Amino acid sequence: MFLPILCIFSLILSSHAAVQDFCVGDLAAPEGPAGYSCKKPAKVTVDDFVFSGLGMAGNTSNLIKAAVTPAFAPQFPGLNGLGLSMARLDLAVGGVVPMHTHPAGSEVLLVTQGAICAGFISSANSVTSKLLRRVTL
Ligand SMILES: *[C@@H]1O[C@H](CO)[C@@H](O)[C@H](O)[C@H]1NC(C)=O
Repeated sequence: MFLPILCIFSLILSSHAAVQDFCVGDLAAPEGPAGYSCKKPAKVTVDDFVFSGLGMAGNTSNLIKAAVTPAFAPQFPGLNGLGLSMARLDLAVGGVVPMHTHPAGSEVLLVTQGAICAGFISSANSVTSKLLRRVTL
């Protein structure tokens, strides 16, 4: 049994998008600290703004019994420069996501099946955690 979880978090990136309609990432160009440079508007297609990979379960047959399916700018170029990214997390029973950080970023968890214990440690070392159950849609 898998426990798919949609994990939506934003990364704070300086945004070119504030002064133009969009900045679809030019994945052929190198990625800088602010993301990719913008693809020429004439080369942008609707597919740059669509990502369907979150509908497929990740493979949890690994040591941590977890799989992350990212929808970051390399997979979803329309997000480039928006300070937004998403990921699908699949956890098998007993699965765990190792402690990690999202510097200057925020995260939203949406549990779609089962339940997980999720939390964070503040910079003052206080732990906040809670059992999150699937949302009823
Ligand atoms: C899942 O990963 C395991 C370990 O790498 C592999 O043996 C297995 O074939 C993979 N399953 C699928 C459905 O990809």
